[in-house]
Parts: sequence; structure tokens; C-alpha cells
Amino acid sequence: MSGKKYELVDLESGKKTTLDARSGSVGPDCLNIGNVTKDFGAFTFDPGFMATASCESKITYIDGDAGILLYRGYPIEQLAAKSSFIEVAYLLIYGELPTPKQLEQFDHSIRFHTMINETLLRVFNGFHYDAHPMAMVSAVVSSMAAFYHDSMDNHNPRHREIFAHRILAKVPTISAASYKHMLGQPFIYPRNDMDYCANMLRMFFAVPAEDYEVDPVSAQALDLLLILHADHEQNASTSTVRLAGSTGTNPYAAISAGVSALWGPAHGGANEAVLAMLEDIGTVDNIQKFLDRVKDKDGGKRLMGFGHRVYKNFDPRAKIIREMCHKVLGRLGQTDNPLFELALRLEEIALKDEYFISRKLYPNVDFYSGVIYSALGIPRSMFTVMFAIARTAGWVAHWMEMIADPAMKIGRPRQLYTGPVQRDYIDVEKRG
Ligand code: CMC
Repeated sequence: MSGKKYELVDLESGKKTTLDARSGSVGPDCLNIGNVTKDFGAFTFDPGFMATASCESKITYIDGDAGILLYRGYPIEQLAAKSSFIEVAYLLIYGELPTPKQLEQFDHSIRFHTMINETLLRVFNGFHYDAHPMAMVSAVVSSMAAFYHDSMDNHNPRHREIFAHRILAKVPTISAASYKHMLGQPFIYPRNDMDYCANMLRMFFAVPAEDYEVDPVSAQALDLLLILHADHEQNASTSTVRLAGSTGTNPYAAISAGVSALWGPAHGGANEAVLAMLEDIGTVDNIQKFLDRVKDKDGGKRLMGFGHRVYKNFDPRAKIIREMCHKVLGRLGQTDNPLFELALRLEEIALKDEYFISRKLYPNVDFYSGVIYSALGIPRSMFTVMFAIARTAGWVAHWMEMIADPAMKIGRPRQLYTGPVQRDYIDVEKRG
């Protein structure tokens, strides 16, 4: 508790109740609203969780006004410059940066859990070639619950740790299998001598008929993108994992629920939508016409990759990715990438426009990520899958934090009911 107290008064009856405030280590206080129901018999109403903290967490902190993002206290800029995705995953899950020995052991464990059971591979055959890869990834991750059902006891810390390593290791393998299924190419088995991102690129792009050499620039760019997407506190998909996990369900099933929630265009699906939007705009000359449609509320269009529920300032990840676009495209010999040029101009024009200024709409993480993914040869339909691979680290960290908390409760929101009041059933022949 912060020691601060608030008083809530029923203005009709004069009845009062006291709300204690809880302070975090940083950020706004949270009012404990338990007394509202106890003393007034009322619920609080907050659709879309605009002002509600759904849980206590020590993993990630965002200051949306200042454009700050910290994983376990470490600024995203420092992690992006100095760390690796595997180290960041360790940090998110275990709470501290690993020692060299811990990092080596963790990296080794992830490398040696990459294979998936052959029967899981056969699940892909149930999908048509043009199935969206997010649907396949969600289904196959969920199928892992069937494989690891009896051997998974949520109350056993070692079981939880094995789950964490397994899902992190296998999600790139599953994602690559979904890609190969789309292409009609044979699945490429993982190689444990390769690091996380190099192995992933190989599983995506190698074919049995010829050698494939991983481009280190691409692997490094991918690693950075995974760091930037690894966690973002209680976003829609993470909250979904927590809500599903709070029932005590198998954690693979909870992660699958997170994959499904991520897919939507307001969340992880935005990176795919940004590329579609850029291709739709086509040239710089069409930008103003497009923005006019976005600003017309009847136009039904949004500037994808812009705006964020929490950031009312630059998304720090967007700044890093924009800079990285310059570097990566330069190193891949694509300095005149037309999509990047279009995105830069679109950002510049939107940021000077009163509509976006007054609503504090800035580019978010997804505005530039698709440009890099397509420069790496990753097709548009796989963009959200790439996001899911990265966010698996965050989902796992949140599930582990929640499940280890002895005070964990099933998530069960209430509602403001506006349907019919009680009425009597009418026999069918007497209706109409
Ligand atoms: N283009 C045009 N107008 C927008 C946009 C946008 N991208 N985003 C918000 N607005 C307007 C919105 O119409 C509203 O205007 P008004 O006050 O006149 O009604 C105002 O800004 C506030 O918007 P909101 O919808 O109440 O904001 P929200 O916090 O509920 O939504 C958001 C946040 C991310 C869903 C939204 O900004 C959006 O749809 N952005 C485009 C999709 C996108 O890029 N999503 C990725 C988010 S970051 C990665 C992730 O979370 O996965």
C-alpha cells in the first residue's frame, strides 16, 4: 500500500467507503476497488481496460507519455544495442540477466529442444495450402497440450521450467513448418549447432536440393526484431494467456490462445496490415489522398502502424526499428527500397498533420517491422508469426509469474447487464 487513501461517497445516501492506494516501484498508484462491491454492492465499469490494472507484475514497465520501455528494469535501447534474444528471454523468465554459465546452459537447453514430434508434423497435412500460418501455429501449439498433458503439472516448478524451454525452442520449428506447408516444400529439420535466429532462417529458406548459407546480417536483424517484440506488459495477447492460464489449463493451450489473440489487425496483425497499406498507397503522390480517407470517419480506414493504447508519444521500439531499417537495407544492398521510402514519407506527413498531432498518434513497433521482414525475404503472411515467436518469451514469463503466485485467482470479470429482465417462457405455438 502507498498509505494514500481515497474516499468514495454515494451522493444519494451519503454512505462512504475508503479505497487504499497501492504503489508500484514506478508508475501511477492503483486504487484497490474491492470495497466498492463490498460496501456499495456496485461493480466498476471499464470496457477495454482503459484504467484498470488486471494484475501485479515485475516483468515489464511502460511509461507511455515519456516513451519508456523497460524489461525487468533494463531500457529497451540498451538491450537492443547489447543483448541477444536468448539472453532477453532468460531475463524475462528468470528476472535477472544470466551469468555466462547460466546463459550457456539456457542457450544449450533451447537448442536441444528444437525438434517436434513427427506426428505433430502430420497435423499440418490437415490444412489447405493457403491456410493462414497463424491459424496453423495456433492449432499446432494447442496440439502440444495433447502431447505434454500427463507430463505437465502446473504446480511443479521443474515442469514449468521444462515447458518454458520447450515452447521457446519449438515455436520457430512449428512456424517454419507452417511456412513450408504454405509453399508445398519439404520441412527442414532444426540444427542444434546453429543459434536461434540462424537456425530459424535456415528452417524457413533452405531446401533439401541445395546448400543454404545463413546471411549473418539477416540473422542479426531478426534477433533485434525479436528483442523488440519480446514483451509489452499486459497487452491483449498476454492478458489472454494470463486469463486462459488462470483456469489452470495446460500452458501450451494458454499460449495457443495468446497466438490467436495476437493475430488481430489491432494487435500483432498490424505488421501485415501495414505492408498491405503501403502497397495499396503505392506511391508518395497518393499519400495525401490516403490520409484524407483515414481522417474521414466514414472512410473506415486507419493508418496502420500508428497509434497505441499506452504510448501517447513515440513508441521507443519504432525509433529503433526505423534506424535499423536504414542499416539493414544498406547492408542488404536495398537502400532504394520503395516501401521504406514510402513509409518514411508517410510518417513525415502524418506527424505534421493536425489529426494525428491532436490525438497523439505516433508510429508504433509495427510501422517499420514489415519493411525489414520483407527485406529479409519473409512473406507478408508470416509477419505476425514472427511477432508470435518473439512474444512467446513474454507470454511464458507472464504465465510463469502468475502460476507461481500463491494468491493466483481465476480471472472472472463481471459485467453491466443491459439485456431483458426476467420474463416467462412462451410455448412456440403461442409466439408470433
Ligand atoms: N489511424 C487513424 N486514427 C486513429 C488511429 C489510426 N491508426 N489510431 C487511433 N485513431 C484515432 C481514433 O479514431 C480515435 O479518434 P476519435 O477520438 O476522433 O474517435 C482516437 O484516435 C483514439 O483512438 P482509439 O481507437 O480510442 O485508441 P485505442 O487506444 O483504443 O486504440 C490502437 C489503439 C492501437 C488499437 C489504434 O491506435 C489502432 O487501431 N492503430 C492501428 C493498428 C495498429 O497499428 N496496431 C498495432 C499496435 S502496436 C503493436 C501491438 O499492440 O501489437
